[in-house]
Formats: sequence, C-alpha cells, structure tokens
Amino acid sequence: MKMNPWTLSVLLLLAGPLGADPDWHVEYPESFCVVEGSTATIPCSFTHPAVHKGTDVVVERVIWCTNPKFCKKPVYYVYDSSKVRGDSRFLYLGDLVRNCTLKIIKTVKKDAATYHFRFESNATGYAGRKGVRVTLSNGEDVKVRSSVTDNVVKEGGQVTLTCTSNCSFHQMDVHWYRNGHALSEKGSALHLSCLTNDDAGNYTCSLDSSGQKTSAPWSLVMLEDEDGEVVKVRSSVTDNVVKEGGQVTLTCTSNCSFHQMDVHWYRNGHALSETGPALNLSNLTNNNTGNYTCSLDSSGQKTSAPWSLVVLEDEGKHNVTVAGKEKFDWFLTVSVLLAVFLLLLAGLVFAKRCLRSV
Ligand SMILES: *[C@@H]1O[C@H](CO)[C@@H](O)[C@H](O)[C@H]1NC(C)=O
Ligand SMILES: *[C@@H]1O[C@H](CO)[C@@H](O)[C@H](O)[C@H]1NC(C)=O
Ligand SMILES: *[C@@H]1O[C@H](CO)[C@@H](O)[C@H](O)[C@H]1NC(C)=O
Ligand SMILES: *[C@@H]1O[C@H](CO)[C@@H](O)[C@H](O)[C@H]1NC(C)=O
Ligand SMILES: *[C@@H]1O[C@H](CO)[C@@H](O)[C@H](O)[C@H]1NC(C)=O
Ligand SMILES: *[C@@H]1O[C@H](CO)[C@@H](O)[C@H](O)[C@H]1NC(C)=O
Ligand SMILES: *[C@@H]1O[C@H](CO)[C@@H](O)[C@H](O)[C@H]1NC(C)=O
Ligand SMILES: *[C@@H]1O[C@H](CO)[C@@H](O)[C@H](O)[C@H]1NC(C)=O
Ligand SMILES: *[C@@H]1O[C@H](CO)[C@@H](O)[C@H](O)[C@H]1NC(C)=O
Ligand SMILES: *[C@@H]1O[C@H](CO)[C@@H](O)[C@H](O)[C@H]1NC(C)=O
Repeated sequence: MKMNPWTLSVLLLLAGPLGADPDWHVEYPESFCVVEGSTATIPCSFTHPAVHKGTDVVVERVIWCTNPKFCKKPVYYVYDSSKVRGDSRFLYLGDLVRNCTLKIIKTVKKDAATYHFRFESNATGYAGRKGVRVTLSNGEDVKVRSSVTDNVVKEGGQVTLTCTSNCSFHQMDVHWYRNGHALSEKGSALHLSCLTNDDAGNYTCSLDSSGQKTSAPWSLVMLEDEDGEVVKVRSSVTDNVVKEGGQVTLTCTSNCSFHQMDVHWYRNGHALSETGPALNLSNLTNNNTGNYTCSLDSSGQKTSAPWSLVVLEDEGKHNVTVAGKEKFDWFLTVSVLLAVFLLLLAGLVFAKRCLRSV
C-alpha cells in the first residue's frame, strides 16, 4: 500500500512509542468542501490495536453514516459493508485494514452533512467522533487562471489555463469553452500551444456539462508575429515558376513541434492524399499549377499561407508536335486534292468517251 509521508507520520504518531500497539482511531479532515454536482473523494484512515483483551482483533464491518450518535442504531447509513445494496452514489474505496476513503459521486445539496466512520471488529466497535463536515459550494468561485501575467500572447506562443475553485472537484468533470463553443479538451488544465489567431477569444471553464458553475471569461488576445505565420511552406526552387516535366519539393515548417504524419497538404484548398512534412512533386504538368498550403492538423487550423506554383508548358516539345502535325495535315490535304483531281479527270475522260459514242 502506498502512503504519503504525512499519513505515515500520523500513523507513527498514533502508534506511540516504538513497537506499541496503535490506538483506536479514525483520521479524516474536519471539513471538506466540494462543488455541487462534482465527485468528492474524502480521505480517511483508521487504526486499532492488534490485540484487545488478550485476543486478536479482526475488523468485520465498516460503516459511513450521517448520525450524530456515531453510527449506532437507528441511523442513516450511507455505506454499510454488511449490506449488499446501499446508496449507489456512495462508494467505499477503503478496506478492512486501515483505509476508509469514501467517494460521493455527483454530489447534491442534501449531501451536505457531517459524516462519521465506524468500524466493527470481532472484539468491539469504534467510531471517529469528530466526523467530517461536508460543505457544498454552488460553484460561484470557479475561476480561470492563466500561466501568463497579461492576456496578450504572441503568435506561436503558448499558455496554460487552469480551472480553479476553493472547493474540490473532479478533474475530468471540467469542460472548456472558447467564445461559448465547447472544446474537446477536458480536465482542470487546458494547454494551448502554437497559438494562432484562431485561438484568440474568451475562455471559460465549467464544472458540469450543463454549463452551470461556469467561470467568468478569460480573454486571450493574439499579438501578430512580425516574422509571419507560425506554419510556412518552403520550396526547393527559388521562384514559383517550374518547367513542365520538372520537379519541386515543398516542405512544411514550423518552430512549433508537431507530429510528422499530422501534416496535411492542400492545392487550391482541396486536400491532397499525401501527408507528412515534405511533398514531392515530379513530372510536373499544368495540372500541378495552383496554390499549395500545409496544415498541422486535419481540421485545417494552423494552416500556412499559400505558396503558388506555376508550371510552364515546355515550348520545345510543343513545337515538335505542332510541326509534325502540320506536315501530316499538308500531306493529307495534297493527297486528297490529288485524288479528287484524278477522279474528276477520269470522270471527264469517261464522259467525253460516252458523248462521242452516242
Ligand atoms: C485509500 O484508498 C484510496 C482509493 O484506493 C487511495 O486513493 C488512497 O491513497 C488510500 N489511502 C491511503 C492512506 O493509503
Ligand atoms: C477475532 O478473530 C480472530 C481471528 O479469527 C481470533 O483469533 C480472535 O480470537 C477473535 N476475537 C474474538 C474476541 O472473538
Ligand atoms: C516561433 O517563432 C516566433 C518568431 O518567429 C516566436 O515569437 C515564437 O515564440 C516561436 N514559438 C515557439 C513555440 O518557439
Ligand atoms: C473562496 O475564496 C475566496 C478568497 O480566496 C473567498 O472570498 C470565498 O469566500 C471562498 N469561497 C468559499 C465557498 O469558500
Ligand atoms: C470577449 O469579451 C469581451 C468583454 O468581456 C468582449 O468585448 C468581446 O467582444 C468578447 N469576444 C468575443 C470573441 O466574444
Ligand atoms: C522527396 O525529395 C527529397 C529531395 O529530392 C528526397 O530527399 C526525399 O526522400 C523525397 N521523399 C519522398 C517521399 O519521395
Ligand atoms: C516520371 O517520369 C519518369 C520518366 O518519364 C518515370 O520513370 C517516372 O516513373 C515518373 N514518375 C512519376 C512519379 O510519375
Ligand atoms: C490533367 O487533368 C486532366 C483533367 O482532369 C486529365 O484529363 C489529364 O489526364 C491530366 N493530365 C495529367 C498528365 O495528369
Ligand atoms: C492563387 O493565389 C493567387 C494570389 O493569392 C490568386 O490570384 C490566384 O487566383 C490563386 N489561384 C487559384 C487557382 O486559386
Ligand atoms: C518553339 O517556338 C517558339 C516560337 O513559337 C520559338 O521561339 C522556339 O525557339 C521554338 N522551340 C524550338 C525547340 O523549336
């Protein structure tokens, strides 16, 4: 079992002089604040002597209750290990040895109460007398805190936002919004890196999915980077004009770290099948002419400015085909004309003969 130093020292303290039997004791915080609707995990530990009145002590039953008389009958047990069914929102995460941690799922107003833990051994029972006072906060004090001192961050920079409250809440219950639109990220910390203009806006966090218990907005202002964009297209050629049949390699670069295979390429806004930081274009035809952009994520955010490629038709090649075709056409025309002339001549001779014979 893992134990933090604090718990360990408490246990050692309770154990008294070295080797002495531990006393009957339950340790939990005096009070515990939780944001309504969130999940509370109340830390708790207990000890008992190994031997009581000459016989070994074995814990057989553990109880959590909200009764001022220390869980003696008649009481409202929120958890009782001797019963199969209890309130399903109360989970006992402890054991029968020394851990009595209690978890309350999706706290509601009526959960605010003083809770006691009682354990019963085959020798005797014992309850933690003080109890833990559970208070519920309506989430009015939920705030967004940021890792930067002012709200202005440079393009390509980064910021971490943290959702805080005086009271405890479950990390994974935290939802984030930009300008009121839900983000996919969850958890009490929102890390934003490689910032672009798209990231600017008002950020809020909320401790439940219904959007209640929402913080005041924290506004992110982007400062334009004079050096240009965060993502850039670089090419293997010095100008944008390449001859037909030639080749060019485009590279997507950024000073932000990114996953190689997350790089997507676009021509005139249409996604290409190639992915990865380098795009090799060879045997260029006029079809390759267009504006190329690369993007560091499939959603097309963090996209570069367009790089324009112009493929020049190879005039030499063009001349040869045109010349060949012209020669062929001339030959065909002459042949056809000659054939027609000969036919006409033959027809004329034939007609003359017919006239003569009549
Ligand atoms: C008690 O159990 C809970 C849940 O398993 C755990 O998170 C906690 O660290 C334990 N406490 C101690 C003192 O071992
Ligand atoms: C409690 O159980 C242990 C182990 O079974 C046994 O040794 C001990 O005598 C029991 N104590 C009492 C008071 O029955
Ligand atoms: C990226 O480069 C710009 C300047 O070109 C700089 O301001 C910015 O801090 C850099 N971002 C990172 C994450 O290094
Ligand atoms: C939260 O903390 C602030 C100051 O830190 C205090 O004014 C406020 O009363 C606290 N709220 C609760 C519910 O404890
Ligand atoms: C962000 O909030 C400020 C003031 O609260 C407001 O002026 C601004 O229009 C908001 N921005 C957006 C994008 O909603
Ligand atoms: C793209 O071209 C570059 C340089 O011509 C070469 O180093 C690289 O291996 C090529 N990549 C692919 C996927 O063909
Ligand atoms: C480009 O053309 C050469 C020769 O015409 C050929 O061997 C090669 O396979 C072609 N490459 C592509 C990618 O079409
Ligand atoms: C260029 O595009 C046209 C029309 O989409 C297509 O018919 C032609 O085969 C393409 N040429 C090459 C060399 O891919
Ligand atoms: C490419 O971009 C240039 C200037 O940005 C624009 O004039 C041109 O029409 C674009 N071409 C296409 C095919 O979108
Ligand atoms: C192709 O034609 C152009 C003008 O029409 C001419 O300037 C050029 O030299 C020709 N190229 C070849 C290889 O004949």
